[in-house]
Amino acid sequence: MDLKRSQYKLIMQNYEKKQLNIKHEINKKKTEIYKRIPLIKVLDDEIASNSVNTTYYIIEHPDEAKEKLEQLQESNFMLSGKKIRLLLDNGYPEDYLQPKYDCNLCKDTGYIGNEKCICLKQAMIDAAYEQSNIKNIIKDENFSTFSFDYYSNSIDSRFNLSPLENIRIIYGKCKKFVNNFDTDFTNIILFGQAGLGKTFLCNCIAKALLDRSHTVIYLTSFQLFKLFEDYKFNNDNDKVPEEQIESIFDCDLLIIDDLGTEFNNRFTGVELFNCLNTRLLNKKSTLISTNLSPNDWSKQYSDRIVSRIFGNYEPLKIFGSDIRLKKYQ
Ligand SMILES: Nc1ncnc2c1ncn2[C@@H]1O[C@H](COP(=O)(O)OP(=O)(O)O)[C@@H](O)[C@H]1O
Ligand SMILES: [Mg+2]
Ligand SMILES: [Zn+2]
Repeated sequence: MDLKRSQYKLIMQNYEKKQLNIKHEINKKKTEIYKRIPLIKVLDDEIASNSVNTTYYIIEHPDEAKEKLEQLQESNFMLSGKKIRLLLDNGYPEDYLQPKYDCNLCKDTGYIGNEKCICLKQAMIDAAYEQSNIKNIIKDENFSTFSFDYYSNSIDSRFNLSPLENIRIIYGKCKKFVNNFDTDFTNIILFGQAGLGKTFLCNCIAKALLDRSHTVIYLTSFQLFKLFEDYKFNNDNDKVPEEQIESIFDCDLLIIDDLGTEFNNRFTGVELFNCLNTRLLNKKSTLISTNLSPNDWSKQYSDRIVSRIFGNYEPLKIFGSDIRLKKYQ
């Protein structure tokens, strides 16, 4: 992702800040523990001096390196075990002196070796798309705040199903989509009238996958096509960086909310087909929400787009009455 240098710098400063905070936190706890359980300091000193001694010994006797390192590992393991027992005996959790990272994969460094960690990739996506907004929304709109209270349990004769039964099934399918995200390649199109919780469900899925370290881009279809347009037609100064466009094609999940509200023309049709098709070929999941009914899809989009969607997306129809209105009452 091609960010402005200043944006990248800010993100990396954030990582440094996190690491400093963690170090600070650990030092504070150590001081406390050494005072309360002095034996832990003795053990820590022993662990430190063991590894220094081993290093010196290996420099002198490189042929014994393997054996000595194994010995060191063994003795560290034993000493750490003693430390844990002391902590537990004194009423502390066993991981009290372990750093608590936001991301255990990269230990809040942003990198695993030379590779960017998934958390850094997502941070860059967030910066590029100014997605910070979604972070706030998904605090309120997620699977744990999803309420079934707004869906009536009287049977809708058209479907022989109540809105409540229906949303329970859909909720379950969305959860399954998240749980099987790493193994099953699925795409979802949520459709139904306005105010039935389509965007809410998109946010539930976004949060669940972000929490599981996947890269997620959330865009309304209006924003998506604006990006494509700016990329294609703007001149150098406000051109959208190529890598930002690439991330639309290869992020783990792309959410296109409110499909059908973009200005429709030949250009958007080509771009939409290209985007959906490329993601299908790369086995990258897409989640679409739309107020349009399948009938409208074929009026608004070309046959090849509609057949891509029909053939490869699980259609989930939400019905019921507008939750916004219910909330007002
Ligand atoms: N399951 C739900 N529980 C609580 N509030 C909901 C739920 N679904 C939708 N809402 C609320 O109802 C309003 C409309 O939902 P929204 O997801 O925007 O509908 P849609 O995208 O289908 O038009 C929003 O204010 C949203 O927060
Ligand atoms: Mg919506
Ligand atoms: Zn990370």
